[in-house]
Amino acid sequence: MARDNAMSAVAAAERFGAARKCLVMTGGTSGIGRRVLERLLRERANWIVILIARPSPRVDALKALPGADGRLAVVDADLASLNSVDRACDEVVGLLGSHPIDALALNAGIQTVTGDLASADGLELAFAVNFLAHFLIVERLKGHLRPGGRIVSTSSEVHDPEAFCLMGIGRATWQDPLVLADPTHAQSHVASVVDRGEARYCASKLLNLMHARHLALELPNIGVMAFNPSVVPGTDIGRDRNWLQRLGFKYLLPLFAPIVPGARLLARSSGDLLWLLTEADAQSLSGQYVDGRAPQPGSSESSDPAKIARAIEVAHVLLRRCLDPSSTFLAPHLSH
Ligand SMILES: NC(=O)c1ccc[n+]([C@@H]2O[C@H](COP(=O)([O-])OP(=O)(O)OC[C@H]3O[C@@H](n4cnc5c(N)ncnc54)[C@H](OP(=O)(O)O)[C@@H]3O)[C@@H](O)[C@H]2O)c1
Repeated sequence: MARDNAMSAVAAAERFGAARKCLVMTGGTSGIGRRVLERLLRERANWIVILIARPSPRVDALKALPGADGRLAVVDADLASLNSVDRACDEVVGLLGSHPIDALALNAGIQTVTGDLASADGLELAFAVNFLAHFLIVERLKGHLRPGGRIVSTSSEVHDPEAFCLMGIGRATWQDPLVLADPTHAQSHVASVVDRGEARYCASKLLNLMHARHLALELPNIGVMAFNPSVVPGTDIGRDRNWLQRLGFKYLLPLFAPIVPGARLLARSSGDLLWLLTEADAQSLSGQYVDGRAPQPGSSESSDPAKIARAIEVAHVLLRRCLDPSSTFLAPHLSH
């Protein structure tokens, strides 16, 4: 079924040829990403979307959105499994054919606060889903980006230990990325399970920003930005919280978002992300941390060349370790 839908979207792309633009995205089934997808399908008829998402009723609902018919392709993948992501990238490449990617949105994210959760590859879950899965997607798809195209990675203000955050999220201490990838040792100095989960989430968001800064140097023809949506109530990012917190974040806080300092409406943040993906001058913003629509410095750590280099090195090592020998992915400098 997903395949049929996918094929029809690509057939549409071929019919319309170069006039069509292509967005490949993760995290389009819920919250900020879902709003971006809805608006893109409704308002930008010259875009098609290839969505990488795990199967769920949410995906089925997306296929019924106005504008989705023939313009939305869904490729199954669980970002908590590198082999699943790798297979999905094969499928994306097959769907693209010679059609380039205009924008790549790395928006999926999770925050877990109930214990030492691990991915299918045995990696700390926030590290695996928020950072490493997206790292693999970029490695597999960067050769398919149109020169002048863009990559937007959704980060967060909580990447910065010093930044104000309305939700009072516990922040991360820098650790070697091999430790950050370890489901028992990442941020293990933090005693409370909730605070530890939050710190791991923050570390993954710092890695998202470091990755964007690295890619901006590696891919000078591509605009690479890290996006801060700020605190955006009304999404499911708090899905691992207790019922009271979930209720408050999903349904109550959105009512007060217009007047609460540090909170942003879903409509505003999704509009900012859509703008970054389709309109912003990506070249001039490349390598930057963009808060809403405004470039900001980000934490000093996020620009530390030695720490960035180590994060990239560890990501390559882990991909090589975790992926099947049959994978088509080969980390260039580690392949011998
Ligand atoms: N909301 C905020 O206050 C806030 C603040 C700063 C940054 N952010 C960032 O904004 C981004 C979007 O978050 P949101 O607030 O919109 O949260 P959300 O409503 O929970 O959306 C998260 C998205 O990530 C996807 N996802 C999670 N785990 C996945 C997996 N294993 N495989 C495939 N897809 C997976 C979800 O898909 P499913 O439908 O399959 O679960 C969903 O589409 C995240 O990167 C988050 O860190 C949010």
